[in-house]
Amino acid sequence: MLRPVRVQLDTIERPVIVEFMSKEHVSRMQSFDCGVDGDEQTEFAQKEAWDTHRRCLSTVFIVHDKEENIISYFTLSPFIVSLKIKDDMSDDKKRLVEELRAKLEELLGMDIKYTSVPTILLGQFGLQKEYRGKGVGGEILSKIILPYAVFYAATIGGVGLSLHAKKKVAKKFYLKKSPLAEGFQVISRGGTYELFYPFVDEVQKFRIELIKRSRTTK
Ligand SMILES: CC(C)(COP(=O)(O)OP(=O)(O)OC[C@H]1O[C@@H](n2cnc3c(N)ncnc32)[C@H](O)[C@@H]1OP(=O)(O)O)[C@@H](O)C(=O)NCCC(=O)NCCS
Repeated sequence: MLRPVRVQLDTIERPVIVEFMSKEHVSRMQSFDCGVDGDEQTEFAQKEAWDTHRRCLSTVFIVHDKEENIISYFTLSPFIVSLKIKDDMSDDKKRLVEELRAKLEELLGMDIKYTSVPTILLGQFGLQKEYRGKGVGGEILSKIILPYAVFYAATIGGVGLSLHAKKKVAKKFYLKKSPLAEGFQVISRGGTYELFYPFVDEVQKFRIELIKRSRTTK
């Protein structure tokens, strides 16, 4: 998974290349600009992405065209979603956590005795401003980010994709326009929404496939 991968994106009618960030991307990330309301993602790309990646605090993936123009970037890292019900939690939060536990138990077909479950965190995700508002983000989420998250979960354990998004972005993009909208669970609401996309089935299938492949290449 370290080698660059080509992915066809229908929304921009040409393939893109996805790869781990490397030193060669640093100067191009300096001119990455997410545009309106994307200051956090712009600043992260320009000032923090490389240090975060090389110190292994998360993994930065670059999505670029064949001329090396950066279209998007995102970060993945291991994460934990708490299933603990605490006395000081609001009733809304308690209900959301109970719903999540029930949903996961249904998907896993077993009781979950743990107080937390491992997930893969989508920490940062931004598009170069010219590509926003055309459905490119949704395609990257479903065709690139999700398969990578499933791959990591299949190799180290994980039951879904976690992310934190501003209320507006959560409501307009993740829970409405994105191709994954139907599957997202809301874990907490507020100025920031904590969202969780369970992918237990996909991970189980992928794990079986990985085991099969490893046996045939012996
Ligand atoms: C969020 C993002 C990845 C979505 O990709 P996209 O290709 O633009 O997504 P779509 O075209 O399918 O849909 C975009 C919808 O989300 C909304 N949206 C996107 N970014 C938003 C933001 N920062 N604040 C409010 N709404 C936002 C758009 O207004 C649009 O909704 P509308 O058509 O009802 O106006 C991209 O817009 C982006 O990079 N935004 C800035 C950075 C950001 O907020 N990243 C998410 C961090 S969790």
